Amino acid sequence: MGTQAAPAASEIAAVGVIGAGQMGSGIAQLAAAAGCGVFLLDSDPAALSRAVASISSSLGRLVSKGQLSQAACDDSVKRIKCVSDVQELRGVDLVIEAIIESEDVKKKLFVELDRITKPSAILASNTSSISITRLASATSRPSQVIGMHFFNPPPIMKLVEIIRGADTSEEVFSQVKSFSERIGKTVICSQDYPGFIVNRILMPMINEAFWALYTGVATKEDIDTGMKLGTNHPMGPLQLADFIGLDVCLSVLRVLHNGLGDNKYSPCPLLVQYVDAGRLGKKRGLGVYSYRRNSSSVKP
Ligand code: NAI
Repeated sequence: MGTQAAPAASEIAAVGVIGAGQMGSGIAQLAAAAGCGVFLLDSDPAALSRAVASISSSLGRLVSKGQLSQAACDDSVKRIKCVSDVQELRGVDLVIEAIIESEDVKKKLFVELDRITKPSAILASNTSSISITRLASATSRPSQVIGMHFFNPPPIMKLVEIIRGADTSEEVFSQVKSFSERIGKTVICSQDYPGFIVNRILMPMINEAFWALYTGVATKEDIDTGMKLGTNHPMGPLQLADFIGLDVCLSVLRVLHNGLGDNKYSPCPLLVQYVDAGRLGKKRGLGVYSYRRNSSSVKP
């Protein structure tokens, strides 16, 4: 068990963000804007270039709206260092992991992080559904492992769901809560059960929308319009699934299905087929809808 005192939130000066995709790039932006030095790591150099471009344009939009000075924007961008070697994270106070939703791959990374980072570092995962307790068990510091679940896109969405693993210490929980508040988020706390709070409730709805489409109940547009105007959701479940990533939705449903053992969580075959076909949603330009320019397919 880890016995080192974890840093106070005000002392969290250096943050490692692993995975520079949709989530990691937004999380890096938030940490940099809060004044932290950020090491952003991805195994794919192209993802790092895309992340830097997306962070610059996201902060640039705040400048053009008068919500951020050009100097503060430039300083935030400068605070982000893109790296390709996990060794560069050895001095950080907090690591936020946002790589692909695979327990095996995440566990391997946590073993490496445990070996490399300083003993007091907190290791957080942005997993949508994987057990924090099991990720923590791959390390020698389970009291310093915690779930920090952001929502997409992180700079806009106000929520962070914090998940306590079986051994997460009270101190680490309160450090991460304070840090989340420092970067402008509202915190909810979940115990470590499959899907935590939000995905436990959201993913069955998304899956049901796929079943409705698959069984011919209605068109994708009518399913989404129905849920938007009938339940006052800002976007329909199929469009939301495209924004989340269909691969992420499928992974979460499999975790719910395996972990809770109820067939109601069994992923709809249409969702499985889209993922098999590489239709992963907005990030790939094609999911339930097409996001490609000049596409004949209707956008939501
Ligand atoms: P993404 O596919 O956009 O990005 C993942 C990035 O991780 C890619 O750039 C990939 O190159 C990199 N990567 C994969 N394996 C790696 C490794 N071993 N080392 C370093 N980099 C690696 O995925 P996204 O959507 O950003 O999701 C990331 C995590 O966040 C997942 O665990 C997902 O469940 C979770 N999440 C996703 C949300 C969403 O709406 N997409 C919302 C909340 C959590």
